[in-house]
Amino acid sequence: MSEIYYPKKEMFTDPLIKNMCEYNDLVEEFEKDYEGTWGKYAQEKIDWFKPFDRVLNEDDAPFYKWFEGGELNVAYQCVGRHLKTKKNKAAIIFEGDNGDQRTLTYRELYYEVNRTANLFRNKFNIKKGDRVVLYMPMIPEAAISMLACAKLGAIHSVVFGGFSAEALRDRIIDAEAKLVVTADGAFRKGKPYMLKPVVDEALEEGCDCVEAVCVVERNGEDIHWEAGRDYAYNELVENESVQCEPEMVDSEHPLFLLYTSGSTGKPKGVQHSSAGYILWAQMTMEWVFDIKDNDTYWCTADVGWITGHTYIVYGPLAAGATTVMFEGVPTFPDAGRCWKMVEEYQINQFYTAPTAIRLLHKMGVDEPAKYDLSSLRILGTVGEPIDPAAWKWYYEAVGNSNCSIVDTYWQTETGGHMISPLPAATPIKPGCATFPLPGIVAEIMEEDGTPTPVGEKGFMCITKPWPSMIRTIWNDPERFVKSYFGDCKKDGKAVYFTGDGAMMDEDGYITITGRTDDVINVSGHRMGTAEVEAAVKKHDNVAAVAVVGKPHEIKGEGIFAYIVLKDDEGVADELETMKEINTIIKSEIGAIALCDDMAFVPDLPKTRSGKIMRRILRSLVKGEAITQDTSTLEDPSIVGIIEDILKKEC
Ligand code: WTA
Repeated sequence: MSEIYYPKKEMFTDPLIKNMCEYNDLVEEFEKDYEGTWGKYAQEKIDWFKPFDRVLNEDDAPFYKWFEGGELNVAYQCVGRHLKTKKNKAAIIFEGDNGDQRTLTYRELYYEVNRTANLFRNKFNIKKGDRVVLYMPMIPEAAISMLACAKLGAIHSVVFGGFSAEALRDRIIDAEAKLVVTADGAFRKGKPYMLKPVVDEALEEGCDCVEAVCVVERNGEDIHWEAGRDYAYNELVENESVQCEPEMVDSEHPLFLLYTSGSTGKPKGVQHSSAGYILWAQMTMEWVFDIKDNDTYWCTADVGWITGHTYIVYGPLAAGATTVMFEGVPTFPDAGRCWKMVEEYQINQFYTAPTAIRLLHKMGVDEPAKYDLSSLRILGTVGEPIDPAAWKWYYEAVGNSNCSIVDTYWQTETGGHMISPLPAATPIKPGCATFPLPGIVAEIMEEDGTPTPVGEKGFMCITKPWPSMIRTIWNDPERFVKSYFGDCKKDGKAVYFTGDGAMMDEDGYITITGRTDDVINVSGHRMGTAEVEAAVKKHDNVAAVAVVGKPHEIKGEGIFAYIVLKDDEGVADELETMKEINTIIKSEIGAIALCDDMAFVPDLPKTRSGKIMRRILRSLVKGEAITQDTSTLEDPSIVGIIEDILKKEC
């Protein structure tokens, strides 16, 4: 049994959930009256313009509707309503790559959001329901643009700035975006990098839906201007009024789309709601991060991912917190950058990915000791399982053995945390996401819905709908049902499949064991093997390809490709091909999807019906013994041949 770390009670004054008895009481309250309890929180936490008249409508399951009849505005919930009590409190503290700083109080943020919303409405004719794609660096204008969309009831879709022109184009077209908001570029590791040229390239083909591009100035580098299409944000926004009436939206009105990878096909546009999403973003901010009025909270994610949406922008602001936004990378100018910032801003909650922890551990094991990190109370991790070595260093060197580590398990589709310790209450076992949050009914099951026995691996499922869950896949409701809801039902309701494996121990602690499908988790970022394979296949000399995850010291998982060439002329040819393939991947998807390694093989293990046996390929790359039955393969000898090739390469 692993060691247990108890919360240091003296670190917490008046947490919302003080101990496991209170946790159990809350769980029980939801069990006794699920809808009533959610209804109570929704009433208490959201500033409704019109109250809802029904908590949960399951008539069209799994297309659940929450808080029907209610009207709200998410920008009002996150900014406008706080003017009454905290207009002069810092809402966003920004630190640039080169150390420049900018603080926006709630009042200033309110004015900026209003002016931007007015600009979007007056100049670009953005109305409720229109889609706006944001291709932005980590600067306050990213958050301001998201909130400006929310103010107008427009639906934003943020595309991570590391995605290529092709990937951006696919998302613009799928969302049928009317406006693209971007920046000239930004700074990374002391140097400017560019975004606008990527937008120019994306818009070269097939994006007739886009009427305008609004360009924020950040690095001041020269960029191409397309007359009649491109507009300078900084000049135009000056002329707009700081007053803007919020557009009221129904509870279920889509707040945003965020594209994420699945096991098959192109990325899917995960659609989130307004009321249910913001409710859970705020509640988890309060429960999991124990956010208090004087706290300064920092999440190092990028706004291009769901963590940036829920835990840099929406959650912290809905909770009235001070949220730090950082443009740079944690290792520049050195591996002490984060700790220097923690000291300077007196950060109370620090939230990052295990991949960053491993990197900072490796590059700067002694760096934390050089700074005063005593303001820290809670350390969070997200995105992938955390290994014991990284956990220990985070706990001891960064947290001085005083902080609670919240290992938060969730997904783009879940909107907010699902399984996580509560910092003042939950005794923690390292590497373990511990227990479902109150209100979340997470169960480990077999594919047919029978409960998985304690100590065995099963599928992580959420068996009751919850307010912040994905509503549908944009433009593809069938894919929504097929991707997440199998035939398995509990109490007559379709069960949500996360795609992750999990295990529960005898004390009820849940450990997430990783994806059970063809999604790879690279540095905490989701990548679909099908997407990478589609890119690799664009190379003229590739006959077949299979991509799998391979354990990686820093990234958690790296991308490994098995490639069958049409015409293999030897090692020199293979090396050249490797480079060419990665160039294609970079242009089709982006640098985050580059293959770390490739093996050129004569064939792939396939069943007689032509299905590639990925499980065998996954085992082979890990050097595991092949336990699968290979007799159903078209050519069983290929397994040994590939094994020999991999051995030779090592
Ligand atoms: C993985 C990120 C282990 C998981 C918020 C999930 C985790 C995928 C954890 C979602 C964790 C997330 N422990 N694995 N604490 N948190 N994951 O959509 O495989 O980018 O399905 O959302 O990350 O990735 P996504």
